[in-house]
Amino acid sequence: MSDLKSEITKRRTFAIISHPDAGKTTITEKFLLYGGAIQLAGTVKGKKNTRHAVSDWMEIEKQRGISVTSSVLQFEYAGHCINILDTPGHQDFSEDTYRTLMAADSAIMVIDASKGVEAQTRKLFKVCSMRGIPIFTFINKMDLESRDPYDLLDELEKELGIDTYAVNWPIGCGKEFKGVYDRQKNHIMAFEAASVSGVKEAKSTIYPIDDPALESLIGERLWDTLQDDIELLSGAGEDFDLDRVREGTLSPVFFGSALTNFGVEPFLQYFLEMTPPPTARTSHGEIVDPFDEHFSAFVFKIQANMNKAHRDRIAFMRICSGKFEKGMDVYHVQAGKKIQLAQPQQMMAQDRAIIDEAYAGDIIGVFDPGIFSIGDTVCTPGFDCKFSGIPTFAPEVFCRIRQKDTMKRKQFIKGMEQIAQEGAIQIFQEPHTGMEEVIVGVVGTLQLDVLEYRLKNEYRVDIVMESLPYQYLRWIENEEVQPDELKITSDSKVVQDYRGRYLLLFTSMWNMNWAMDKNPDLRLAEFGRAEE
Ligand code: G4P
Repeated sequence: MSDLKSEITKRRTFAIISHPDAGKTTITEKFLLYGGAIQLAGTVKGKKNTRHAVSDWMEIEKQRGISVTSSVLQFEYAGHCINILDTPGHQDFSEDTYRTLMAADSAIMVIDASKGVEAQTRKLFKVCSMRGIPIFTFINKMDLESRDPYDLLDELEKELGIDTYAVNWPIGCGKEFKGVYDRQKNHIMAFEAASVSGVKEAKSTIYPIDDPALESLIGERLWDTLQDDIELLSGAGEDFDLDRVREGTLSPVFFGSALTNFGVEPFLQYFLEMTPPPTARTSHGEIVDPFDEHFSAFVFKIQANMNKAHRDRIAFMRICSGKFEKGMDVYHVQAGKKIQLAQPQQMMAQDRAIIDEAYAGDIIGVFDPGIFSIGDTVCTPGFDCKFSGIPTFAPEVFCRIRQKDTMKRKQFIKGMEQIAQEGAIQIFQEPHTGMEEVIVGVVGTLQLDVLEYRLKNEYRVDIVMESLPYQYLRWIENEEVQPDELKITSDSKVVQDYRGRYLLLFTSMWNMNWAMDKNPDLRLAEFGRAEE
């Protein structure tokens, strides 16, 4: 196999999605441990102060002790080169979290077994399912009291609309958790709580299903339940179908306990077997083969002010085909210019390192002197390629913003436009008004703090923010609709985005449904179509 082919074939690029506290960080950390990328549990965690080793670029981050943007972790495991895209949750949930999913080839969805599907999981799932990427489910915290596993699967199917296939099945939960039955390998991995130098670790021992010791190990009641479960699953459940997994319509489900490191490594091994190597992306409606020797990539995230002293930006790119080499000339399609990608970096587990080469599937961050926009394509000069852009995701928090000092109008407009161009915020205007007042929409409230901070520090503009009661934003899809003539409740509002597209703002779902009812032809979209 050629170098290019073998390098690309061994890559797996995915995101881990979950509601905060389901265990995403804990699982990521176990993955890194298996790969030898970190030596000690607790290195990735430490939400308070220690995480700055990974991204220590912004004052606000230091003040709050949280990571503002997601990072990418790369490590090797079992012959694979793994890229994990970290999707921030908690207060730092933002549009970047959604955009990061555009760079992933698959997703791992971590669910807390006592809670099931939660709000943030639902939102992130929606974006993954829009892209049709494979979604793997890890039902975590089985060492604690959990909900009935059938209920959990039922909820995944009904709430998210995806079929499920349980690859393993839990035996009890909480204090009675005895392990999992692996349906493919037909064996039981028994769970035994233990503590290794103060760190919670479980002992996991494999028993073939016909091992006579099992019944007494598990106990008669749970043994009987397991027999019934095995029968029921093989009779009533979905069949395993790798094609459906790859299309994103069937989610393989695994039960385990990340904290005790139980079931995580077998999960990783199954996952690596089932998830595809870098998948093809489309350009001008045609497939770009990841193995094509021409380099191509698209920008999915722009991070400002990584280095306070230089006020620079880093553009994160997903490589879609070929190989990237440091210092190579590339063509920036949107600007119509040849450029060099400066200071290409990759995020390793703890450090940011300058890299010499990278392959399809990898994510690189390059120095951006202010030329890139979200969705831009770069490629080998002469390679006819332009990836379909990245959609805009509906913000959920809105406020009206104006500058305190009217003399600073120019700086205010410049700052707002630049920050919006980076994709850190979205700006909207009421039709027929100027830029004196702007409606800003964000996915997470932290973005508003970032906006205020940056306007003050980079553009010397103080602003006044007035929060608005809207919760839902929808793009009007049908162009023939006359926005002025729409029947909407008095507390709903028509606005325009920077491309002049019309949108509706609603304070409640009820109001949105009312508008749909009264305007039967109106078609609303939750995603703003990508720029072509
Ligand atoms: P997140 O990144 O999805 O937000 O979740 P994270 O991994 O930080 O886990 C949230 C909490 O749940 C942590 O506890 C973590 O130790 C715990 N946890 C994760 N997986 C399991 C599991 O399988 N079993 C049990 N019992 N707990 C689990 P914490 O108290 O918030 O943090 P810490 O004090 O342990 O650091």
